[in-house]
Amino acid sequence: MSSFPHYRPRRLRRTAALRNLVRETHLAPSQLVLPVFVRDGKKLRRPVGSMPGVNQTSVDEMLRDAEAAAKAKVGGIILFGVPETKDATGSAAWDENGAVQMGVRALKKEIPELVVITDVCMCEYTDHGHCGVLKNGDVDNDATLELLSRAAISHARAGADIVAPSDMMDGRVQAIRSSLDGAGFSEVSILSYAAKYASAYYGPFREAAESTPKTGDRRGYQMDPGNAQEALREVLADIEEGADAVMVKPAGPYLDIVSRVKAETGYPVAAYQVSGEYAMICAAADRGWIEKERVMMESLLGIRRAGADFIVTYFATEAANKL
Ligand code: PBG
Ligand code: ZN
Repeated sequence: MSSFPHYRPRRLRRTAALRNLVRETHLAPSQLVLPVFVRDGKKLRRPVGSMPGVNQTSVDEMLRDAEAAAKAKVGGIILFGVPETKDATGSAAWDENGAVQMGVRALKKEIPELVVITDVCMCEYTDHGHCGVLKNGDVDNDATLELLSRAAISHARAGADIVAPSDMMDGRVQAIRSSLDGAGFSEVSILSYAAKYASAYYGPFREAAESTPKTGDRRGYQMDPGNAQEALREVLADIEEGADAVMVKPAGPYLDIVSRVKAETGYPVAAYQVSGEYAMICAAADRGWIEKERVMMESLLGIRRAGADFIVTYFATEAANKL
C-alpha cells in the first residue's frame, strides 16, 4: 500500500459520484423485513406506546401496512401473534384460525411478492409469559419442542415461506425440521434465532406482544451478553440441525457476532434491530438530539457492513421509502 503524499484517500471522497463509485456496502429494500403484531378483530389499530409508528393490528389493518411495505419494495414481513386467550401450554399458538395463521393466508393471497416469515415461540401464548412450558418453575426444554413443532406446522399449513423459532430451546431446529418434513412441508425454510441474547433491549417489544414473563426472566434460556464463542457454537448447532439461515439478535450492540457468524459460516445471516434499538433512535430524534433519518440509515448500513444479509427492523418501510 502506498503512503502519503501518494496515498490521499480524500481524493475519492470529493464528490457524491466518486463516493458512490467506491462504496463497499449497499442497503436495498429487498434486504429489509418488517415485523408486525397481529391480533383478532376488525379495523383494529392499537399504537404501542414505547414504539412510535408501531401498532398492534387486526389482519385487515396488517394488510394495509404490508401493502405499504410491498410498495416500498420491502423484502419480507415477520408476524407475531397477540392472542385473546393464554394458557399454561400456550395452545393458541397452533390455532388454525389464530391471528398469525389467518394473517399468513391473507398475505399469501393478497401480496404474494412479500416473503412471509412467522415467529415461532410460546411467550405470547403462555399465561406465565415464558418461551416454553414450565415444570417446577423452570422452562422444560424437551416438552416444549413438541409444542413449537405444532405451531410451526400450523404456520406452514397457512402458507408461511419461512418459520423462525425464537424460543432458544436446545434441539428445536431439529425437532421443527423433522416435523415439517413429516407433515409434507420440506420446502418451508427455517430461519433460526440462533444467537439470541438475554437483552434489556427487548423491553418495548414485550409491551407490543404482551409477552413479559410474570415471574423471573429469560436468562435461563437466552444467551449471556458476554459470550461470543458460545454464539458460534449455537449457530453451528442450528446449522447442523437444519437451519437454512441464522439470526443474531439484537443487532447494533452485537455487530461483532454478526461479523463472526457471517465470516465463519458463510450461511445467510439475518440481524434483528430490536425494539429497544428502534425506540432509542425515535426518542432521541423526538427530542431533536439526533437526525432520525440519517441515524436510521447509518444504523442499518452498519448492520449490513458487519455482514448481515438481511435485517429485521421496525424501520423497514420508512427506510425502504428513502432508498
Ligand atoms: C419472543 C421474542 C422477543 C423478541 C422477538 N421474539 C422478545 C423476548 O425474547 O422477550 C424481541 C424483539 C424486539 O425486541 O424487537 N421470543
Ligand atoms: Zn419467546
